Amino acid sequence: MEIIVKRDYEEISKCAAEHIAALIKKKPNCVIGFATGGTPIGTYRELIRMHKEGLDFSNVITFNLDEYLGLGLDLSKPYSQDQSYHRFMYEELFNHINIKKENVHIPDGLTKNPEEFCKSYEDAIKEAGGIDLQILGIGGDGHWAFNEPGSSLESRTRIEELNEQTLNDNYEAFYKKAGFTRDDMPHYAITMGVGTILETKSILMLAYGSKKAEIVAKALRGPVTNQITASAIQLYKGKATVILDEDAASMLDETQSSESVS
Ligand code: GLP
Repeated sequence: MEIIVKRDYEEISKCAAEHIAALIKKKPNCVIGFATGGTPIGTYRELIRMHKEGLDFSNVITFNLDEYLGLGLDLSKPYSQDQSYHRFMYEELFNHINIKKENVHIPDGLTKNPEEFCKSYEDAIKEAGGIDLQILGIGGDGHWAFNEPGSSLESRTRIEELNEQTLNDNYEAFYKKAGFTRDDMPHYAITMGVGTILETKSILMLAYGSKKAEIVAKALRGPVTNQITASAIQLYKGKATVILDEDAASMLDETQSSESVS
């Protein structure tokens, strides 16, 4: 695992975007797994800037990690009426780059048959040749995607019930600003499993801010446990890169921060 510590959010965003752009240049038809949350927004802004300077997404294929159950693509609704991850991805990235809509895959929270959908999502990833690079954040409770504490580390794409901490965190970060009450929040989501994520070819995990320092240290250096699903990074066989700002890295011990500080 390579851990890169950068000064601040702006620097981690630039570094992450460069990492993603390098893959796209090397393999224009690469398969990228995208993530939502506040953390990758800066990275997506950088990618949009790079696209304006010529970075070509026309052959890139994407798979998103998760979506709230009951929400889906309805871009006709104003911002305040839709907190779907579909809307997030189109507004924060896809509407601003030359990605082909048919190459975009986001779990369908409006599916009538979630179980069948989850299986078809796994099949679609396989048909695309697997995910070359999966972008990941980390939830306040240590989750990857929506793999809440207690999820099997071998889990596949499935329906997951969100716990109180995640509902609170995501309410504060997104729903509240958009005028929703806490009760309006969906309590279930479709999420790629930890096992699905562990099968990707490389991962890029991002975290910033002192609020994430303790959980980042536990995930990267503590025992591997399904109570902190991001700790599965320690089992990862592919190439794992973690980009942190100084605050998020502040509880890693000396050995860690000396791995790669720039
Ligand atoms: C949500 C997403 C995760 C994301 C997490 C952290 O729960 N499902 O994929 O990593 O939020 O979000 P943030 O970056 O806003 O802290």
